[in-house]
Amino acid sequence: MNIAVFCSGNGSNFQAIVDSLKDDLSTKVALMVCDNPEAFALQRARKEGIKSVLIERKKFKNKEEFENEIIKNLEQENIELICLAGFMRIIGPTLLKKYPNSIINIHPALLPAFKGAHAIRDALEAKAKTTGVTVHFVDREMDHGPIILQETVEIGENDTEESLAERIHKIEHQLYPKTIKLFVAGKLKIEGRKVKIS
Ligand code: GRF
Repeated sequence: MNIAVFCSGNGSNFQAIVDSLKDDLSTKVALMVCDNPEAFALQRARKEGIKSVLIERKKFKNKEEFENEIIKNLEQENIELICLAGFMRIIGPTLLKKYPNSIINIHPALLPAFKGAHAIRDALEAKAKTTGVTVHFVDREMDHGPIILQETVEIGENDTEESLAERIHKIEHQLYPKTIKLFVAGKLKIEGRKVKIS
């Protein structure tokens, strides 16, 4: 199965996904879609010899045209699974309709807690004792679709945003590849808001 990873920034999850699939004959990261010319993720793709496309939202009249350009690129690579990995945009109906139940996202908190772009900071500021990582299917609402896998991360008294982020990222780098393998193996079934894992 050909998969695409969407990035806007560092791309450490992209790297972890690529590394985890190196000896996997059934699954290939065939494309990175990036919306930010400054993203370090683009350099990672180059180094790995993985095709990347830079598609900037500001170059398009509206979200639909932006997503149609993305779809054109996905179709060229026969993409069957889209993994959002630090992609800082809400997926619109054009992409969702084209790839039903085939777009997943990773979020650095235990959804539905701490949605949004500052989940790690928000958990610290809330004085939560536990946070974690969620991988979920993407739907029309941000950080909302059916949850696939979650793992907890304890918050220590002396944690800073940086130290907590480091532990969260370590978990992310295991949980995302694990989810992708379940998806590719056909082991995820969505029943309403529930994801059954066989
Ligand atoms: C991760 O923490 C992910 O959960 C969130 O954005 C961050 C991306 O990090 N959605 P990276 O670009 O993969 O290093």
